[in-house]
Amino acid sequence: MTDFELRQGVLHCEDVPLPAIADAVGTPVYVYSTATVQRRAREFKMAVAALENPLVAFAVKANPNAAILAILAGEGFGADVVSGGEYRRARAAGVKASKIVFSGVGKTADEMAGALEGGLFQFNVESRDEAEMLSSVAVSMGRRAPISFRINPDVAAGTHAKISTGSAQDKFGINAAEAVAAFNRASKLPGIEAQGVAIHIGSQLTSLEPLELAFSRLGELIDQLRRAGHQISVADLGGGLGISYDATKPAPPSPASYGALVERVAQRWGVQLLFEPGRLIVGDAGVLLTEVIRLKNGANHPFVIVDAAMNDLMRPTLYEAWHEIEAVTPRGDRMVADIVGPVCESGDTFARARQSDRVEAGDLMVIRTAGAYAATMGSSYNSRPLAAEVLVNGSDWTVVRERQDVEALIRGDIIPTWIKPV
Ligand code: LLP
Repeated sequence: MTDFELRQGVLHCEDVPLPAIADAVGTPVYVYSTATVQRRAREFKMAVAALENPLVAFAVKANPNAAILAILAGEGFGADVVSGGEYRRARAAGVKASKIVFSGVGKTADEMAGALEGGLFQFNVESRDEAEMLSSVAVSMGRRAPISFRINPDVAAGTHAKISTGSAQDKFGINAAEAVAAFNRASKLPGIEAQGVAIHIGSQLTSLEPLELAFSRLGELIDQLRRAGHQISVADLGGGLGISYDATKPAPPSPASYGALVERVAQRWGVQLLFEPGRLIVGDAGVLLTEVIRLKNGANHPFVIVDAAMNDLMRPTLYEAWHEIEAVTPRGDRMVADIVGPVCESGDTFARARQSDRVEAGDLMVIRTAGAYAATMGSSYNSRPLAAEVLVNGSDWTVVRERQDVEALIRGDIIPTWIKPV
C-alpha cells in the first residue's frame, strides 16, 4: 500500500492533490507522506519486537530533514549519524542523545568531542587508530567513550558496487581476524569502553543470504571475543534491507522476514541488538514532483524534458538506479520516451526508452520512491537552487524546507579585492 495514489484521475499524497502543492510551491519539489514514514517505522518496530530491548537508530543520511527526524523521534527511533552535522541535526530535531550511534570511517577529533559533549549511545569505531584518537579526546575531556568496533565480515552484499561496504577490499571496519587484538588494545585505553561489535554490509540488499552470512560470522566472533575475556553486550546489525523501486521485479524480503532471520540467528547472543535502517523507513515515503518543460524529437523516441535534474536526484546517474515515473493527471495513453533534466550532461537522464504516460509541456510528473538518498544528495550544480521539500499529513501539508534562493548562491561567493571591477 502506498500513500501516493490516483483519486479521480489526479495523483494525491494522502488527501492532498499534488497539483495544489506544485501551484503553491513551484517545482521541482519533494513531497513526503507522514503516514508512510509512520507505517514503515511501525512495521520495522514490529519486525524486531520479539527481541529484548532493540534500539532502532534511523540512518540520518537517508533523509536528514528535521521534520522526518522529528516524526521518527516520536516513534521512539534513535539516529545513526556519520558526521558532526548529522549529530547536531538529529539532536536539534529531538532525537535523544542516549539513542545516537556515531558511525563513519573518518571521524575527526572535533566530531568526537562534539558528540561526547552532547552524549550518545556509542561510537562505531572503524580502526585501531581511530580508537586511540577517540581515547585521547575522551581523556582530555575527562570522559570515557562507549564504543563498538565495526567489523568487516568480508561478505559480498550482492548490491551495486558503489553501495557495497562489507567486502575485505572495502574501506569499512576492521578485519575479523584483527578483532581480538583490537579489543585487547582497547581494554588498555583509558578513554574508551568497548562494549560491542557492529556491521553494515551494504545498502539496497534484495536477498537475506548475505545478511545471514554476515550475522553468523558476527555471532562466531562474539563467542571468540568472550573466550578471550571481553564483555560483549551490544551488537549493531546495521541497515541495508532493500525496497521495491520497480513493481515488475520481485519484491525484496519483508521487514518481518528480516526480523525472523535476526531472531533465528542473533536472539541467543545475549546482547542488546541495534539496527540502522534508512531507505526502508523513508524510501517510498517521498516523490519528486516535477513539471514537463517541453518535448523534443530524438533519434528513436522523444525526449521529455522535465524541470527536475540530476542535481536534484542523483541516483539514476550515479547508480543507474531505476525510479518509477508517471504523470500526475494521466491522459490514459502511453508513449516511449527518454525522460531527462535540463542539466548540460547526457548523464542527466532519469529514464531511457521508458514506457510512460503520454505527457505534454506543462504537465506534472512524479519520480517515485524518492524519500531516501534523494533530496539529501542534491547539489546546486548548474546553479540550480536546491529543491523545496513538503510534508503532507492527511489533508494538511507544509513546506519543511524552503526552496534555496539563487541570491544565496550569489551572496555566498566572494570576489577578492585584487580583482578590479570592470
Ligand atoms: N548504517 C551505515 C553504517 C550505513 O553506511 C548506511 C548506509 C546505513 C546504515 C543505512 O543503510 P540503508 O538501510 O539505508 O540501506 N546513496 C546510496 C545509498 C548509500 C548508503 C550508505 N550507507 C543510494 O542512493 O542508493
